[in-house]
Amino acid sequence: MANSSVIIIGSGISALTAAYQLSTEKNVIIITKSKMTNSNSIMAQGGIASSIGKDDSWRSHFNDTLTAGCYHNNENAVEILVKEGPHYLSELMNGGMRFDRDKEQNLLLGKEGAHSTRRILHAGGDATGRALVLHMLEKVKERVQIIEGLTAIDFVIQNQHCIGVKVKSQNNMIQDFFAENTILATGGCGGLYSFTSNDKTITGDGIAMGYRAGLVLSDLEFIQFHPTLLHKDGKSCGLVSEAVRGEGAILVDENKRPIMSGVHPLQDLAPRDVVARTLFHEILQGKKVFLDISMIDDFSHHFPTITKLCKENEIQIENGLIPVTPGAHFSMGGIKTDKRGRTSIPGLYAVGEVACTGVHGANRLASNSLLEGIVFGNIVANDILVDSQPIRLNSQPQNDTYNEQEHFLNLPSKAQIQMMMMENVGIVRNKERLQYAMEWFENFKREFEGISLSSLSIEQLELVNMITVGWLIAKSALMRTESRGGHFREDYPSEDNLNWRKKEIIQTKALENVVYS
Ligand code: SIN
Repeated sequence: MANSSVIIIGSGISALTAAYQLSTEKNVIIITKSKMTNSNSIMAQGGIASSIGKDDSWRSHFNDTLTAGCYHNNENAVEILVKEGPHYLSELMNGGMRFDRDKEQNLLLGKEGAHSTRRILHAGGDATGRALVLHMLEKVKERVQIIEGLTAIDFVIQNQHCIGVKVKSQNNMIQDFFAENTILATGGCGGLYSFTSNDKTITGDGIAMGYRAGLVLSDLEFIQFHPTLLHKDGKSCGLVSEAVRGEGAILVDENKRPIMSGVHPLQDLAPRDVVARTLFHEILQGKKVFLDISMIDDFSHHFPTITKLCKENEIQIENGLIPVTPGAHFSMGGIKTDKRGRTSIPGLYAVGEVACTGVHGANRLASNSLLEGIVFGNIVANDILVDSQPIRLNSQPQNDTYNEQEHFLNLPSKAQIQMMMMENVGIVRNKERLQYAMEWFENFKREFEGISLSSLSIEQLELVNMITVGWLIAKSALMRTESRGGHFREDYPSEDNLNWRKKEIIQTKALENVVYS
């Protein structure tokens, strides 16, 4: 048994931001299932959107966020994000975080899809996430205990209050961690798809835990597919940032035909769902798709991470063409929280991609995700510092490390789940495919209903989480009989504002049925 004031599950930017703020007054423990540097945050290339340019305004950033989000956003949450963003970014810079600047020390602002102006702060060219996460790890390292290699199984709930989390170590020991407050910051679920920009550890664990605990889940059908993942030997091998198109690169086929020309007024910088779908159809017709980067001077200086990625995969950028394909990038939905990050269970917060504040609507605006982690990471921490009540445990929890016996289950492999999701719950969906996927997941779900998850191996636990979340996404996607943002149904190809505008699909275990709000 271990005790702390706050336990944080996950080690991305929202976890580190909250941990740093809280650690001034609280005893904070971070646990992560792999290494502390395994997160989507550290892999983020483009940067952080903020209206700090002299001709920019929060209102413009607000409008761009709503337009990209297809007006499905929670406008209060968006207003908080874009208004508070510049404040927390200056705090970060005052604390020593260095973003790229020109010779006169002005911040260099990049451009990305669906932004009406240059407003993307970046660091190390295209290594923004890495610079930011390493900066924050340095800040927290003396103040916060970070424990690697602990897989969260489920929350510990007493009297409808979250009092911590049950975890499994890599040598299969089970332990309860108790805390006054628990913060879930496990990221999204990109790893459910065979083509993804996400870290391999991102498998929807937090959403599955939330479902099992009876939390309210929202907007799960909205999955953002990034148009440009590096494509080699039929696989995706990492992200090629949208910032490359922001600097003038264009998408072409093998005959150098500009693919986005005439498709959307913003052409290559159209919202991601539009670009990803266009590429999907090109690829379906047997075409190859490339980013033509020949017009970008000194590419390797501006984009060192992408240059390295291409080199590792034997792509010659000197030829001016990078082969690309779309893949799962970001989940707009997740565990429903209020604007302070509180979930429906007292003592339990969710923040970052695992949470659904509604800030991203149906489709996240580029470079709003690190911003979300920074802004809402601070907000959650402040809420705990100001408002949290010490919890009273009914009795001293009886617990210590123990090792449960392993259980045999007939489950699909990770690759089978990823293929099922990519083919049937992917960029273009329809009723038959969604129904097929939902039933496929349902059959496997029966395998683990009613059994103690503590008895599963870490690999089985991850599969259980992936099956649960795949099933939930397919179910939500089947219910939404329209297309909007990251959810496209070829059998309902238009937005249906009459029936669906601002309607959320809510799922909870207790009700089992889907509820609209
Ligand atoms: C990118 O660099 O293209 C990704 C940035 C983001 O997802 O916001």
